[in-house]
Amino acid sequence: MELVCVEDFERQAYSKLEKNALDYYKSGAGEQFTLGLNREAFNRLRMRPRVLRNVTQVDPSCRILGQQLGWPLGIAPTAMQKMAHSDGEIGNARAAGKAGSIFILSTLSTTSLEDLAAGAPDTCKWFQLYIYKERSLTEKLVRGAERAGFKALVLTVDAPVFGHRRADVRNKFSLPPHLRLANFQGDQANGVVTMGGSGINEYVASQFDASITWQDISWLKKLTRLPIIAKGILTAEDAVLAREFGCDGIIVSNHGARQIDTVPASIEALPEVVKAVGNDLVVMLDGGIRQGNDIFKALAVGAKAVFIGRPAVYALAYNGQSGVEQMLSVLRKDLEITMALTGCQTLADIQPAMVAHESTYSKL
Ligand SMILES: Cc1cc2nc3c(=O)[nH]c(=O)nc-3n(C[C@H](O)[C@H](O)[C@H](O)COP(=O)(O)O)c2cc1C
Repeated sequence: MELVCVEDFERQAYSKLEKNALDYYKSGAGEQFTLGLNREAFNRLRMRPRVLRNVTQVDPSCRILGQQLGWPLGIAPTAMQKMAHSDGEIGNARAAGKAGSIFILSTLSTTSLEDLAAGAPDTCKWFQLYIYKERSLTEKLVRGAERAGFKALVLTVDAPVFGHRRADVRNKFSLPPHLRLANFQGDQANGVVTMGGSGINEYVASQFDASITWQDISWLKKLTRLPIIAKGILTAEDAVLAREFGCDGIIVSNHGARQIDTVPASIEALPEVVKAVGNDLVVMLDGGIRQGNDIFKALAVGAKAVFIGRPAVYALAYNGQSGVEQMLSVLRKDLEITMALTGCQTLADIQPAMVAHESTYSKL
């Protein structure tokens, strides 16, 4: 049967992935309340389409931090993609490049940043960074990303420790033994092995620097001239700090609801961030994006670009690189239909008034 929406790829992946990997990919933190909210909140926004506006040509292209892109959708960093398919991060990044999308490589990837750069030379690549207790490890990653031509650093600010994902604890999650964290050597590369609980949480607790503060943005800025994007901001207060400390962009994100449960959906947090810093920083969003009108809504509220996490992993699990190409083409077509049906020829035509919260209508 033809796959016509992102959920179709997800269903395929569910039948292909073994439990350890599937639970790791799909889980949220705690009771997974926010996991559902990331979707529900999009559905609480109603579209207000405009008509009779000549939409024979629809062009979703954009520029983000100096990069020309085919459309405002990129692939968020997700760890350990070779568990999904042997094409792994390179397959995902090549598919992103063909679609005119950004690909963000996770620090915790199963392909090294050097191999990724060699394998997907034509893709616009950003590197996602975690700060290690052993700072020289992070410095090495930064130098590597610069050398390999990555265009920005995405510092994940919502993960001093990892959230409690119950399934990973129950499964005693470990990275399968034939895979490794490819940006590291020796024990560090083979560190995601259960010591009795979730192997990934144990790795993070032993390796990541939970003492990091805003001052570490200054440390990072001294280290590199690459643009710095803070990923995992959910409040206006922190958005203002990100501006103060010289970040070039923000990704409004709750880490796919994997860190702390009952935080707002990303789309719910977006308005306060846009209001606080939207004219000064490049504000982007991830979390729950599954269809063209989700992308549209985020842009109408004020995001300049959005990212998908799980959908890319599921499409990879379904059929490697070509699965991701197929999924991105479904999503892009859906965005183009949404733009045409709302009377938008370009992204500049997408206006805040084209989206309204459901409460606007419930008064009737
Ligand atoms: C399986 C998985 C692994 C992830 N790994 C990382 C990671 O290594 N670094 C990071 O900053 N975010 C990571 N994230 C969060 C994503 O970058 C992104 O914020 C989230 O997936 C977006 O929500 P979505 O899955 O609903 O699209 C991960 C998310 C998932 C689902």
